[in-house]
Amino acid sequence: MTPQETSEPSVAAVVVLAAGQGTRMRSSTPKVLHALGGRSLLGHVLAAAEPLRAGTTVVVVGAGREAVEAHLGEIAPAALPVLQAEQRGSGHAAAVALAAVPEVEGPVLLVNGDAPLLRAATVTALVEAHLAAGSALTVLTAEVADPTGLGRIVRDGSGAVRAIVEERDATDAQRAIREINAGVYVGDAGALRRSLAALDSDNDQGEQYVTDVLGLLVAEGAPVGGVLADDPDDVLGCNDRLELAARRRTLNDRVLADLMRAGVTVVDPLTTWVDVTVTVEPDAVLKPGVQLEGTTTVASGAVVGPDSTLLDTRVEAGASVVRSHCLGAVIGEVATVGPFSYLRPGTRLARGAKVGAFVETKNVDVGEDSKVPHLSYVGDATIGRGANVGAATVFVNYDGVAKHHTTVGDHVRIGSDTMLVAPVTVGDGAYTAAGSVITADVPPGAMAVARAPQRNVAGWVRRRRAGSPAAQAAEAAERRAEAPAGAPGHDTDE
Ligand code: UD1
Ligand code: CA
Repeated sequence: MTPQETSEPSVAAVVVLAAGQGTRMRSSTPKVLHALGGRSLLGHVLAAAEPLRAGTTVVVVGAGREAVEAHLGEIAPAALPVLQAEQRGSGHAAAVALAAVPEVEGPVLLVNGDAPLLRAATVTALVEAHLAAGSALTVLTAEVADPTGLGRIVRDGSGAVRAIVEERDATDAQRAIREINAGVYVGDAGALRRSLAALDSDNDQGEQYVTDVLGLLVAEGAPVGGVLADDPDDVLGCNDRLELAARRRTLNDRVLADLMRAGVTVVDPLTTWVDVTVTVEPDAVLKPGVQLEGTTTVASGAVVGPDSTLLDTRVEAGASVVRSHCLGAVIGEVATVGPFSYLRPGTRLARGAKVGAFVETKNVDVGEDSKVPHLSYVGDATIGRGANVGAATVFVNYDGVAKHHTTVGDHVRIGSDTMLVAPVTVGDGAYTAAGSVITADVPPGAMAVARAPQRNVAGWVRRRRAGSPAAQAAEAAERRAEAPAGAPGHDTDE
């Protein structure tokens, strides 16, 4: 055995049928590109087939082929897109795929592109059963409560699989069968090529059905089999937006169940959505209304929510994120975010840092224990340790043409309503006075004051707003100030 070999079964090729129009989705997006749980339909199918270590992966494309090929280039660059120019049925698609890889011999997994709940374990069990039985073809089946629209598995008196009949071509007795075709098959390449070449389109849709391959092999006397999926959810297809929403819910339920079993607290599973690509460690807490997407990771002891969306964000141990939107951010250990913070890509909060209410950050390093507590914009900046950025501070990073960087040193105090006009550096331990517009570097330890000195124009209100409530209030205040000490005032009890 070479080091790569394991006891897991493998196949020579995986063929994904993904050329169909997906008419029922009523979408300008090809069906297999619709997304749930952080992957496209196609992405889920490819992920389920991944452990089979196929030497060749073929994806049959047709409807929306440019978009599907571009997506494939991103998620599975090694896969080979093969064009089915005319959608003449799933059997025709399979034949086109195998014709494109004439060198492939041995077991081939054929799978519909719209089976997003298919799991690797289910596919692996199918291949294992197929190899163990030495069959020419094995089909994955499921017992479902409502088989409407699906192909039925016809078995003989001994229980042997004899045919797959599409609902529209079925007799009443066949329609009563609740064992359905999942649209996942493993077959010997030679047997498949032979039977696919013999397909006709003598059916209600006038298409070449891949499902007819099974009956053709039975007629030849070749051994065929059917393997019942443990979980009927695994095989559910996705043909319209209602099914898409239902599959998304099922997938999410599975993800959350796995997390909870592993020790994550999910306070409200109905309003918590976690992509299959996310990692959450035991003893993290997800409060209601949380969406974790992409490559997001949440470490032990962290609390996320309520009402927060995290995309491609890392939340380290013990941190908290409350009612916030975070994209491509790193939230360090015991750091706090929110409520109502907007962390944009490149935000990195060190241990114990705080970003508070109505603060937007982008491309910024906030040092250990530094705080941006209220109402600020912080972009393109480095902030040292133990610094405090006062309320309503703006890091003025954009001059209309280019972005510039601001550096704020350790233990700096930025006064409230400071404009830091980049590029600019505020040295370690420096202060800025509230309301300053800082356009020049501030040396360490200095207090920068960059605002007009205050001027009071005495008596202005009495002269220019005579008779107004403000003028009356001012006059009353003046009278009180002029009254001799101890004289009775109008607000005493006498
Ligand atoms: C198919 C099966 C049905 C099974 C069901 C499971 C056939 C004839 N029927 O029905 O027995 O119960 O899946 O969900 O296969 N495709 C192409 N090119 C074409 C036509 C289809 O690539 O010309 C692809 C589609 O993109 C899809 C797959 O083949 O991924 C199946 O086609 P679809 O129209 O979705 O078949 P169903 O009616 O769902
Ligand atoms: Ca389908």
